[in-house]
Amino acid sequence: FSQQPIVTFSNQPSDITISRHIYGHFAEHLGRCIYDGFYVGENNTTVQHTAGVRNDVVEALRKLNIPNLRWPGGCFADTYHWKDGIGPKESRPAIVNTWWGGVTEDNSFGTHDFLDMCELLGAEPYLAGNVATGEVQELADWVQYVNHGGRSPMADLRRENGRDEPWDVKYWGVGNEAWGCGGNMTPNYYADVYRRYATFMADWNNSGGIFRIASGANSGDYNWTETLMKNIPHHLLEGVALHHYAVIDWSNKGPSTTFSEEQYFRTMKSAWHMEELVRKHSAIMDKYDPDKNVALVVDEWGGWYDVEPGTNPGFLFQQNTMRDAMIAGITLNIFNNHAARVRMANLAQTINVLQAVILTEGEKMLLTPTYHVMEMYKVHQDARLIPVEVQTGAYKFGDEEVPAVSVSASLDSLGNTHISLVNIHPTEEQRVTVNLDKTYGKVEGRVLTSGDLKDHNTFEHPDRIQPAVFNDAQLKDKMLDVRLAPFTVVVLTLHGS
Ligand code: AHR
Repeated sequence: FSQQPIVTFSNQPSDITISRHIYGHFAEHLGRCIYDGFYVGENNTTVQHTAGVRNDVVEALRKLNIPNLRWPGGCFADTYHWKDGIGPKESRPAIVNTWWGGVTEDNSFGTHDFLDMCELLGAEPYLAGNVATGEVQELADWVQYVNHGGRSPMADLRRENGRDEPWDVKYWGVGNEAWGCGGNMTPNYYADVYRRYATFMADWNNSGGIFRIASGANSGDYNWTETLMKNIPHHLLEGVALHHYAVIDWSNKGPSTTFSEEQYFRTMKSAWHMEELVRKHSAIMDKYDPDKNVALVVDEWGGWYDVEPGTNPGFLFQQNTMRDAMIAGITLNIFNNHAARVRMANLAQTINVLQAVILTEGEKMLLTPTYHVMEMYKVHQDARLIPVEVQTGAYKFGDEEVPAVSVSASLDSLGNTHISLVNIHPTEEQRVTVNLDKTYGKVEGRVLTSGDLKDHNTFEHPDRIQPAVFNDAQLKDKMLDVRLAPFTVVVLTLHGS
């Protein structure tokens, strides 16, 4: 690593679009994400809601331009039978959530509730089908139920349940973590299973076509990706997933707020590992799909710590500090820079679970530092990637080091250039020189930082961490001089020439 970070813009923006779907979210039936998170029930009288969905949550997620939302799992998806979640709520059978806390759910939030909520959010739904305990017919029926506009048994059933027009759901997961909670399958076996399921998932003349996503590798399991790319015919495959969490050690994940510097460093190392994972999985995909027709879909990512003391261990509720802002800033820059292959991603999970963007408590709601990073970065959604070369300073801990600075850049449809920069160093500022592609007239910026790395928003102080105006960037000819304070995320916009 060099002493002083230098960022060099390529002279031309690329013809690669940073898909807005990289900025997707994930809502599992897990802990308080759906019930008591998104959904408070139609009879709730203390929280403002629309058909049981919190209005404050809808408003906050709309401000992120939330592009898609994955549901109903996760591990839960492979236990979920969608037909139990349609029809009159009082006659829906219950389900025991065997993966997450063993709680009994009444299925009051089902297919209609989710898809109608996506319409409120302006987000595209991404449905994860049950492959492990379901049947090919069951998933084929689900597709028909939500997507068929004509007359058919499933479309007629949908109408009986009050929805005339299909929802046109494009994104479909064919199982989840098939190597683990989704059936403990081998990649060869899963590839065959996938082929059966995918064959019967018709697009029903859906205007956007259907986009089937194979359950992907666990972090560095490259053989998984290789086997899927080799054994699944590509006319049945639009995306291959990948899951990677920024975790210190699965048997000792550490607290979400009172972490040591060593735990911080280990989290950053794991977050940075995403760069290598995306690069190597992409290289395997390039071998079988040089034209990049199949997308890499990182449909679970984020920081994973011990649950907050006193909360249900099966509910995965954790706080969200500036450390999480660093994870989000680095990871989204990695996805942007690999946008040619990474065309969709889902942060785990939206509300009250893992690296949430929103926490709720009764009628109260707060936005986490991760929310603010997603909001600042939304300028990259559907913009053209500007490739950058980054020579970064190092963040050293003991004998190890990781890059201190992470950067990505884009050009939006209005001609504005956006640069997102992260300094993960906990104590040292970074003075970054950006060599631009041309001269610009004006720079504006926003910054997310705080007095302490462990700072977080609470229900008593919900606005402790929020974006502020950034004044530490100076333009000089074709050069930009940026001072990044320790643990800081900055997004700059350059206008005019
Ligand atoms: O996001 C929590 C869980 O993590 C998901 O259910 C599963 O897919 C993964 O292991």
